Amino acid sequence: MKVLVLGSGAREHAIVRALSQDPDVTQIHVAPGNAGIAADAVVHALDLTDAMAPTALASELGIDLVIIGPEGPLVIGAADRLREAGINVFGPSGAAAQLEGSKAFAKEIMAEAGVPTALAHVCDTRAEVEAALDQFGAPYVVKDDGLAAGKGVVVTDDRAEAIEHALSCFEKQDGRVVIEEYLDGPEVSLLCITDGLAVIPLLPAQDFKRVFDGDLGPNTGGMGAYAPLPWAPAGMVEEVVARVVQPTVDELRHRGTPFCGVVYAGLALTSRGVRVIEFNARFGDPETQVVLALLKTQLSHVLEAAATGHLADFGPLAWHEGSAVTVVVAAENYPANPMTGDVVTIQDGLGEAYVLHAGTKRDEHGAVVTAGGRVLSVVATGASLGQARENVYVAVNHVEIRGSHHRSDIALAADEGRVHVPS
Ligand code: AMP
Ligand code: GLY
Repeated sequence: MKVLVLGSGAREHAIVRALSQDPDVTQIHVAPGNAGIAADAVVHALDLTDAMAPTALASELGIDLVIIGPEGPLVIGAADRLREAGINVFGPSGAAAQLEGSKAFAKEIMAEAGVPTALAHVCDTRAEVEAALDQFGAPYVVKDDGLAAGKGVVVTDDRAEAIEHALSCFEKQDGRVVIEEYLDGPEVSLLCITDGLAVIPLLPAQDFKRVFDGDLGPNTGGMGAYAPLPWAPAGMVEEVVARVVQPTVDELRHRGTPFCGVVYAGLALTSRGVRVIEFNARFGDPETQVVLALLKTQLSHVLEAAATGHLADFGPLAWHEGSAVTVVVAAENYPANPMTGDVVTIQDGLGEAYVLHAGTKRDEHGAVVTAGGRVLSVVATGASLGQARENVYVAVNHVEIRGSHHRSDIALAADEGRVHVPS
């Protein structure tokens, strides 16, 4: 099978790594990729803001399966153009990707499908924002309705800051704001593969969105993750599939916009039960790095089954024993204004751990340099969560980038038994 992966993050590098260990994959092409991906696959320059560009490239290369990583190409309909050309694609249509592209749309689908989520108001004016903030009270949750690369959400006790964020969202074209009730309880990311009909869950993972240890500082795209979740209640995955993901997939199909790809359910396990925080229409980053580290089933098989509508015949996935942890190494000043152009040095002796690239490129001298906020994802597995943590942090110390930073507490609370679902 000849596969084309679209994207340039550590998530795409994780997908490439899984495909490169898959005996049925003969060629891996990536567009646009990064410096690390270029060592493991054939990379192609491509403008992902052009919805037709992936179809042209896939046709030229004779690709059997296209896997779309980021949300950008999905919401502009890149998967639609590929399907129209008769090319197998793993990734939802532009219409179905609105599940991620518009928080207001996601709320509408959840209301129709009876999926539990935070109460919310969609606001178009400052007066509506203030009324909604006062109805829910602090902590205030203020979200940009549209795509914002994980940085559109402000959670704060400061009413003035909440209003300020709302006003900044209104400044965008067609800007709208969603104000939500605050959800207590630990967060879970459950990524599910679907062909629009059947749903197969991956291992549950937890992501660390805040930039600093102790969940301090602003939200980021994600600073680390681990899987599976030793503290998750028995039957949690089955419950989320039955109450959240399957009804959502069914609702989208009934509307005539079936969803083929990954439904990523971002959940809070609150004192009143499971609630959806958000949906994404793609593999999570950095969750994918840990989930694929443990996947035993051939990735090409399950994604092809989804892309061709045969997922109902596909049995449950097989997993390696143990745990996986990933730590993101970020550039100086990420998430505000990341520095670029710093040399990336990785010393030998990573052991079982490995480094996936995100914001990297080769400079004019051939050296690998930083080219984005999240630079690398270091990944390790281990027989226990504690072992995986130890392995990953030994490896992180082999990475040298001037001014870079990472969190030192990824998976720590879970390893120490300090994560509790409120009862
Ligand atoms: P989102 O982009 O919607 O995933 O939000 C980013 C992060 O903000 C989430 O991972 C949560 O940590 C936090 N967050 C979002 N919505 C809520 C909520 N209703 N209650 C508490 N925290 C939230
Ligand atoms: N890990 C969060 C995201 O992929 O959006």
